[in-house]
Amino acid sequence: MSGKELDQTLVLIKPDALKNSLTGYVLSLLSEFHTGLRFAGTKIVHVSKMLAEEHYAEHRGKHFFPPLIEYITGLSHYPDEPIKQRVVAIVYQGIDAVPKIRAIAGPTNPLVAREQKPGCIRSLGTLFPIKDKDGQIIDQRMDNLIHASATDLEAEREIKLWFMPNDIPPYMQGYATKKSERHFYFKDGKLSEDHVPGSFCIVAPGDIVWESDLAILHAIADGTPSKGTLESVVAKYLVNQIR
Ligand code: CDP
Ligand code: MG
Repeated sequence: MSGKELDQTLVLIKPDALKNSLTGYVLSLLSEFHTGLRFAGTKIVHVSKMLAEEHYAEHRGKHFFPPLIEYITGLSHYPDEPIKQRVVAIVYQGIDAVPKIRAIAGPTNPLVAREQKPGCIRSLGTLFPIKDKDGQIIDQRMDNLIHASATDLEAEREIKLWFMPNDIPPYMQGYATKKSERHFYFKDGKLSEDHVPGSFCIVAPGDIVWESDLAILHAIADGTPSKGTLESVVAKYLVNQIR
C-alpha cells in the first residue's frame, strides 16, 4: 500500500447526531462508495472530561469551551441519561482522507454551512446561545453533528488520543508503534511504575503502544522533558472504565 493510501482522519459522531438518529445518514455519506475511504477503527465512547478537554485543548479559555465540553461528553443532550452519553469514534483511511471528510462535513458554523454548502452534514446543525451570569448572550455553541480532523497533523494527534494501536488492524495502523518493556500505572493524575491500590494499569510489558506515547511515558517517569501531557496518553486507556 502506498503512503497516501494510509492517510487517516478521525470522525466523531457527536451526541446531537445520535439524539436525532442521524448516525446512519452520516455513515452513508461517508461510505466507501461516496468517499473511497475505509473504516480502520471504530468504537463507542463514554467521553470523560479528561478526554474531552484533551481533544479540544486548543480551545481552552474561550467562552465556548465549558459548553463545548458539556456537549461532547453528552451532558447537554442527555443530562439525566448517562446510558446515552456517548459518541461514535471512527478512523477513516484512504487517499486524502482529511480533506475529503472535511468537505462533506462542511463549515463549522451550521448557519454558514446552510448558506455556503447546503446539504453538507453540518448544515443540519443548530446554534445554542451561551449566556453570562447576568443572562447576557456572550457567544454561541455550535452543535454541528460531527467532528472531523482538520489537518494530517491534527488527525495523528487525535487518532492517537482516542485509539490504542490494537484498536486498529495491524496493516491499517498509520503511525509507528513500539512494545513496552515497562509497567505504567495511573492514579489521581499521577504516573507510577508500581501498583498501588486503586491505580489503573495503563501499559504492561509486551503491550504495543504508539511510539510517541511511550516516549512521553518514559520522559514523565524519568523526570525528563516530555513532548506531551500525561492526560494525552492515558485518556484512551481509561475510556469506558471510569464513570
Ligand atoms: O470542528 P472544527 O475544527 O470545524 O472547529 P473548531 O474551531 O476547531 O471548533 C471545535 C468545535 O467547537 C466546533 O466543531 C464546534 O462544535 C465548537 N465551537 C463552538 O461551539 N463555538 C464556537 N464559536 C466555535 C466552535
Ligand atoms: Mg478544529
